Amino acid sequence: MPARRVYLETFGCQMNELDSELVAGQLTSLGYRFTSNADDADVVLYNTCSVREQAEQKVWSRLGELRKSKSDKPEMVVGVLGCMAERDGTDLMDRMPVVDVMCGPAELDKLPSLIDNAVRTRLSLVTDDPKAAIKSVKAAALQGSSSRRSGTLAAAGDSLEYLDLSRSVSPIDPIGSLRKSAYVRITRGCNKFCTYCVVPFTRGAEIHRPPAHIIEEVQRLADQGIAEITLLGQTVNHYRFEHGSAKITNGITQPQKGQAFKGGHRRDPLAGTNTTTFADLLYQLHEKVPSVQRLRFVTSYPRDFGDDVLEVIRDCPRLCRYLHVPAQTGSDRMLKKMNRGYTAGEYSEFIDRARHYLHQPEIGRPLMISGDIIVGFPTETDEDFALTVELLERSRYKSCFIFKYSPRPGTVAYDKIPDDIPNSVKRERNNALLAIQNRISDEVSKEQIGCEFDIMIEGPSQHAIKASGHRATKAPSGVQLTIGGKSTGEAEDFSITALLDRFEGDTVQFSGRTDGDQIVMFDAPTATASTLPGRIRRARITDGRGLSLFGELIDS
Ligand code: 5AD
Ligand code: SF4
Repeated sequence: MPARRVYLETFGCQMNELDSELVAGQLTSLGYRFTSNADDADVVLYNTCSVREQAEQKVWSRLGELRKSKSDKPEMVVGVLGCMAERDGTDLMDRMPVVDVMCGPAELDKLPSLIDNAVRTRLSLVTDDPKAAIKSVKAAALQGSSSRRSGTLAAAGDSLEYLDLSRSVSPIDPIGSLRKSAYVRITRGCNKFCTYCVVPFTRGAEIHRPPAHIIEEVQRLADQGIAEITLLGQTVNHYRFEHGSAKITNGITQPQKGQAFKGGHRRDPLAGTNTTTFADLLYQLHEKVPSVQRLRFVTSYPRDFGDDVLEVIRDCPRLCRYLHVPAQTGSDRMLKKMNRGYTAGEYSEFIDRARHYLHQPEIGRPLMISGDIIVGFPTETDEDFALTVELLERSRYKSCFIFKYSPRPGTVAYDKIPDDIPNSVKRERNNALLAIQNRISDEVSKEQIGCEFDIMIEGPSQHAIKASGHRATKAPSGVQLTIGGKSTGEAEDFSITALLDRFEGDTVQFSGRTDGDQIVMFDAPTATASTLPGRIRRARITDGRGLSLFGELIDS
């Protein structure tokens, strides 16, 4: 029987991209193959995001589009994974009968067997009685609020941990040669309960992975050629593992529930040798896995970001000078209503402190910071908004995501604070901030002209790929590159040599990144370009526009 083909599309954050990659790895080991075309697929999966309503609407419209394909091909299995599955629960299946399988982000370890069952059941039933087949495959794995209620992790061990541990850069993955970056999760879930945010409900309570598991995973990825690792957590700097209270099940140390954070600006004096703090983890990764050339982390919470962490970043050359630290607003009144736990003044003090430790343009290592802002949170006045404008001007981010407040059912803000800012005002404020940030990003880029940086080379720029008439999409694992027209579902040749064969001319535009995460475009000779991805080379910056720097490689 030919391998079942899966189409997997990912919406939302980096955490979702990692989840998709792990799910793709599991399905591959069960014999499934991936296709970049939903029409060719036997299994269509959407890994969804619930953070804003707009993200959910995209999935609803995708599901609507599938109705026709499914009536033509009733054996097709459709799955909704991730935050939207968790938030909507099985109501989603009632509203969208095209959906067969649902799986929340905290239950993804169960997904391969849910899909396998659905595929088998559907195949065995579809020929005799299509209607019965449609009903009988419906299945869901959702955590509900159980992980918050239970207070402790399941006695049998935290099975989701095994999903992270199971990852591999598959040897049959034809992309191996192009792929140089990977995400590694260090914490899951969130305990902060910002009043606008669904994440604590969809992803559950904050869980910290044992440091040995993280180091082992990073080492394994490095052994397989990964040069750049991004550590992931919703509030990544609050990572902390207490070895004294660690639980061991079947010989495996289990992840641990997050405690109230006591770090402050210094290493917590209570954190003895039996505790691995975030600073300790960064240092250990840097020292124990030197073949990882770049290590960065997202997303930082602006409170309790210790000097110990800043010192480690300053002193370890392979730790990147890049921080993503959302402020959300510059108004203390709004920050309080959002339950963020800091003031705008404290936020700015942190940014100044980080720059004091880490901003060293004189050695080619300026600190780059990016942020997130929400406009139009309930009751936001012109005065509140003016304070956000001030914060944006003060922060001088290299880039900033700006969002219009989107009320999310189940959150405190949705239940208690009416969404009273008209959409037209949200839009105006959004556009005003975008204009300011575009100017700042352009200024920050221009400040780099004449500087030299080490850049990690990625591959042909998106612009070059488009100009060559080829389609570039993110393939199922979220990190793979699909080039060319319709996928056949068979293994495509993704090797860098095959990719470069498609370019004409002596040079091809490549892109790379500084350790501050700025994009650098440069021309590479087509003949030798295949040796470049994943390498770190010195580049001189000759121009800077918007979010991009332009430069040339300096031979060393
Ligand atoms: N409305 C708008 N933006 C939101 N974010 C989170 N929840 C909402 C919401 N309900 C934004 C925050 C967060 C980013 C991931 O998404 O800025 O940092
Ligand atoms: Fe959401 Fe706040 Fe947690 Fe970030 S810190 S995931 S915004 S609740």
